[in-house]
Amino acid sequence: MNSRHIVRQEGLTGREQREARKGHLGFVLWFTGLSGSGKSTLAAAVEQSLMARLVHTYVLDGDNIRFGLCSDLGFAETDRSENIRRLGEVSALMVDAGLCVLVACISPRQRQRDSARQMVPTGHFVEVYMATPIAVCEQRDVKGLYSKARSGQIKGFTGIDDPYDPPLSPELTIDTAVCGLSQSVEQVIRYLQTHSLIPS
Ligand code: ADX
Repeated sequence: MNSRHIVRQEGLTGREQREARKGHLGFVLWFTGLSGSGKSTLAAAVEQSLMARLVHTYVLDGDNIRFGLCSDLGFAETDRSENIRRLGEVSALMVDAGLCVLVACISPRQRQRDSARQMVPTGHFVEVYMATPIAVCEQRDVKGLYSKARSGQIKGFTGIDDPYDPPLSPELTIDTAVCGLSQSVEQVIRYLQTHSLIPS
């Protein structure tokens, strides 16, 4: 921490009051997985389903955030860690505001995801591992990045020549090669209801 001589200010309203006003808890759905594993697609579909249930949502998508808040960052390990630190901090603020935040970013290292988890209260972080096999992600190659990585045009591409740590104990694991979109959405919604993060 570089800032000195600062004192934390307490407000007159807390997270619990904001949550009560919204009718659900503030929490993070953190979608992690390889490029092309279905993170953004599932996050968007889950958001739509949550909206229909009157849940207050916001999606933080790695690709989009890199156009603004994280436009100064690349894909070196330190840059990715900073990217995830910022996503974690913004998520924590949104959770404190009582929102359901859906984060979709590769977040390749376990320690990066663990530090994001620690920024919110226990039980308010749901790690969703998109376990789609790399062969399937590569075959989809929606953005044409895998072929660029294979031909050496992109260096340090996650899963090709940069590491990805599969989550050690994710709350949910979804393989979009075998699980359809609506089935995957249902799985997430059921988890949130079962754990009383949203009303049944
Ligand atoms: S993270 O590793 O820092 O979490 P993030 O999710 O924000 O990554 O961004 C990943 C997106 O950036 C990918 O979906 C892909 O479109 C693009 N990208 C560009 N270069 C790379 C790279 N070297 N590795 C992975 N993704 C990359």
